[in-house]
Amino acid sequence: MSVFITGASSGFGRELAKRYAVDGHVVGVLARRADELKTLCDEITASGGESRSYVGDVTDVDFVKQSILSFEEDCNGIDIMIANAGMADSVFARDYSTEKVAQIINVNLMGVVGAIAAVLPGMISRCRGQVVGISSLAGFITSPGSGPYGASKAAMTLLLDSLRPDAAQYGIFVTTICPGFVKTPMTDRNAFSMPFLMPLERGVDRIYMAIKKKKRFYVFPKRLYAIICLFRLLPRAWQDRLSTGRPYIKR
Ligand SMILES: NC(=O)c1ccc[n+]([C@@H]2O[C@H](COP(=O)([O-])OP(=O)(O)OC[C@H]3O[C@@H](n4cnc5c(N)ncnc54)[C@H](OP(=O)(O)O)[C@@H]3O)[C@@H](O)[C@H]2O)c1
Repeated sequence: MSVFITGASSGFGRELAKRYAVDGHVVGVLARRADELKTLCDEITASGGESRSYVGDVTDVDFVKQSILSFEEDCNGIDIMIANAGMADSVFARDYSTEKVAQIINVNLMGVVGAIAAVLPGMISRCRGQVVGISSLAGFITSPGSGPYGASKAAMTLLLDSLRPDAAQYGIFVTTICPGFVKTPMTDRNAFSMPFLMPLERGVDRIYMAIKKKKRFYVFPKRLYAIICLFRLLPRAWQDRLSTGRPYIKR
């Protein structure tokens, strides 16, 4: 079996790559940091596993396509493709810029689109495969500064959920995963409080099992998702007030 993972140089991607390698899968890992990928591949080799690394940017459509095609040829197809690469950044009203927003959307959404577009033809021709996207609970809730990140993840969730019934006719399964807060280098940079923050190992356990069980849509932790669902039932004025801690004043 073969698994291709984008964004495997740290966090979820790195841990998932190690688990799949231990399970006997050949793992293709893609990210920009060559040193981190080399260390990961050395660890995989030392544990008796097999890997290939692809150093580059997910926003480079040709690079992603060539990497996926090369891995596919090496392994006689890709069984699971995990679109995991992503970045988080806050963009507030005072420093709102097209470039900042476009960067987040390009990495988190177009990076996923590029990987899906590259992997689908092979999966369709073999009539099997699983496409997994690591989206986020951030795609269900608004808060100041989080708009571009949340929008990229909301769009990603819709993209995957819409692909699922269509791809199923070719024997391809689509899994959308929406984690809450898990301790990784990404969340280590957050200065705000993160309810129900989970250790990386526990978060990766959940993702791994959701993929294995071929869940269509998997959110965790459930308690945070329940709170977000309740929040979304509130009138917009209450949502604004709760997310900023101050009433919205009409001028
Ligand atoms: N941690 C959480 O609480 C949480 C919650 C919900 C969703 N997520 C999502 O989970 C995914 C993984 O995040 P993480 O928490 O594991 O963070 P992380 O440790 O920062 O990992 C992000 C990965 O994405 C790669 N990446 C970023 N920009 C890239 C680019 N332009 N081209 C190629 N690779 C790129 C990084 O590699 P390089 O820098 O080497 O390129 C790194 O391997 C992300 O999509 C994130 O949005 C995380």
